[in-house]
Amino acid sequence: MASVASLSASLQQRVSAALAAAVPSAAGADPLLRRSDRADFQANGVLGLAKRQKTNPQALAAQVVEALPGLAAEQSGDDPIAAVEVSGPGFLNITVADAAITRNVAARAADERLGVPLKAHPGITVVDYAQPNVAKEMHVGHLRSSVIGDAIVKILEFGGEQVVRRHHIGDWGTQFGMLVQYLIEHPHELDHTADEADAGEASMSRLDRLYKASGALFKSDEAFKERARRRVVDLQAGDPETVALWQRFVDESKIYFDSVYSKLDIQIRDEDIVGESGYNHMLAETCELLEKSGVAVESDGALCVFFDDIKGKDGEPVPLIVRKSDGGFGYAATDLSAIRNRTGELHADTLLYVVDVRQSLHFKMVFEAARRAGWLTDAVSARHLPFGTLLGKDGKPFKTRAGESVKLEALLDEAVQRATAVVRDKGEKIGLSEEEILTNGVQVGVGAVKYADLSTSLGRDYVFDLDRMVSLNGDTSVYIQYAFARTQSIFRKAAGDQQPAAHPELPLEQAERALGLHLDAFGDTLAEVAEVYEPHRLAAYLYQLASLFTTFYEQCPVLTADGGPAQVENRLLLCELTARTLRQGLALLGIRTPDRL
Ligand code: ARG
Repeated sequence: MASVASLSASLQQRVSAALAAAVPSAAGADPLLRRSDRADFQANGVLGLAKRQKTNPQALAAQVVEALPGLAAEQSGDDPIAAVEVSGPGFLNITVADAAITRNVAARAADERLGVPLKAHPGITVVDYAQPNVAKEMHVGHLRSSVIGDAIVKILEFGGEQVVRRHHIGDWGTQFGMLVQYLIEHPHELDHTADEADAGEASMSRLDRLYKASGALFKSDEAFKERARRRVVDLQAGDPETVALWQRFVDESKIYFDSVYSKLDIQIRDEDIVGESGYNHMLAETCELLEKSGVAVESDGALCVFFDDIKGKDGEPVPLIVRKSDGGFGYAATDLSAIRNRTGELHADTLLYVVDVRQSLHFKMVFEAARRAGWLTDAVSARHLPFGTLLGKDGKPFKTRAGESVKLEALLDEAVQRATAVVRDKGEKIGLSEEEILTNGVQVGVGAVKYADLSTSLGRDYVFDLDRMVSLNGDTSVYIQYAFARTQSIFRKAAGDQQPAAHPELPLEQAERALGLHLDAFGDTLAEVAEVYEPHRLAAYLYQLASLFTTFYEQCPVLTADGGPAQVENRLLLCELTARTLRQGLALLGIRTPDRL
């Protein structure tokens, strides 16, 4: 493993050194280097510096150019800078040497991590994501949490961070008293044979039936209601028979979750599922600690935490309720206990929660309460990563025509169907077998759903529009997958002696330069995404990479390059690094890359 310094990092270093040489007191000043349309890079830092020094920015810029190491001397073989020019009020326009681009591409291609460095000081991050509820149908909110969380986990892990996954499933609460009691009175309701093919959906429909039937009885039958209430007490007290029946609901639900997650191509490991019930043994103590420290106080019989800045519409303070007046623990008690576990026992220094924006206030209050209680210190950062709502084409929250929330499985099935039609259309022309068409259809369809989710910034609502999502043109995963497949087709067509190899002595076409410079930015992009938890920046990077490759492909023949075998090899090297970057990048988003499309 050899990490590769990005060209922008080495330029940054050189321009900084030149700034310091021109103005010794400017040592450490930021040259504000950016990619630019006019040259390869633009450094804007001279302007601010000139202002502080009260000198003419253009004159200072000229001095900086003079001082650029390696420039004044004979162009040494490995100087990354080919030309610098002062422009406008004192910008530096920097052109990178072709040789430096090729050498950089070669160095990345020689490394299995594509030259992407590991984080210098990795920490421990707990990511709370993919948290559906037991005995309930998963909805599109669970889709977003799972897709976004999975990408964040993969990106952080690729950067070397130690990640603990936590699926905080809703597996506890008063409704389980009702469900368990009903099952006791109707013992065969969850029976089934082990090998039903549609296991996931069948499980869900059994659970759904039970939920509805027990709910109806709970409403209509006072005596049942009372028995259900007592059952909650038994459950909380850990009565073995009650707990065993509760476990059946959890197990049955896991069959259903598994089936949805395998469709979504997201791996959920059993040991990472620590639902609400996993913190049960801590709840009483959590309340006690909060009460003793004065962080929480009793109010109308409930144990509450109050906040000066959080008030309801009527101006009355809105408290965080940790224990209800009937003695039951709320959602907040569980989350506060989970924080104690995650910081105290798992030693996390970062806590992330990939949860619907509608729970923002809850997390704000939970974090603040945990800080007051000392469970979150300055050494720990806790962040809710809120995501927006999935909208229908009418701009309203995504619902079926009957106004029900859309079933996740149905939605995925439809995406796969549409994608398969798109794949079939092209696939038949390139001679794909029926089996390949079906496999690719799944990878394209699931990829399209994930990409649409990941390519919008998290907080924004977005419209679920399958036509757009599986379109071959535009910012879609299919477009990126096609670019990848194109690279593979080039390699299939290459003759035995046509292999990727670097030829830094060859001049590059504009399209090659643009592609090479963008490939160089992969590591920096990943570092940034891991810093701000914004997977859409990776999506945007990959889309641009696919576009630049498409332009390169149209303008620069690879296997039949005019410049002869050396140019063929040099271009194959660009293809190879592009392919591996696309594949790695999409994999981090949880999206597969079929070889033939
Ligand atoms: N199960 C919850 C829901 O369906 C999400 C849980 C979020 N995570 C947490 N630690 N509260 O809305």
